[in-house]
Amino acid sequence: MTTPLVGILMGSKSDWEAMRQASEVLTRFGVAHESKVMSAHRTPGMVTDYVSGAIGRGLEVIIAGAGGAAHLAGVVAAHTILPVIGVPMQTSALSGLDSLLSTVQMPKGIPVATVAIGPSGAANAGLLAVAILANSRPELRAKLQAYRAEMAEAIKKETLG
Ligand code: RP5
Repeated sequence: MTTPLVGILMGSKSDWEAMRQASEVLTRFGVAHESKVMSAHRTPGMVTDYVSGAIGRGLEVIIAGAGGAAHLAGVVAAHTILPVIGVPMQTSALSGLDSLLSTVQMPKGIPVATVAIGPSGAANAGLLAVAILANSRPELRAKLQAYRAEMAEAIKKETLG
């Protein structure tokens, strides 16, 4: 079995619909990863245990998605020096502005690289994780360059009337 390089965490199974985008990007790039549901407030011990053992298990990046008073990414970052990417989930009460602010506004010293709200943010979290890993993996860097070129080509083919 391949050792996961990226851990995708989410506060609830209800976050999976958005967070699966991160997983799909990593799969597309052939990056071994794992996806787990754990909550900073419902299962705090589980989060601590997982993150404390992350480096020892070979993880290099953690992506954490949560909604509402979204402290999961911040708590994860508090327990590791690995790069942590936060994905704010869309919410019904405040459309995800609550999640965005509580994920992005980390006080100085413990960073969380926060992406956009919802599925687009989750996809970008996957791409950002690939970019981080690509720094020391030339084959991944080549794949990322090819992906960008592919996107540009697709745009060039789009005509409006
Ligand atoms: C957060 O509360 C989760 O990350 C989720 O976005 C939100 C709602 O969770 P559920 O009530 O759907 O389990 O902790």
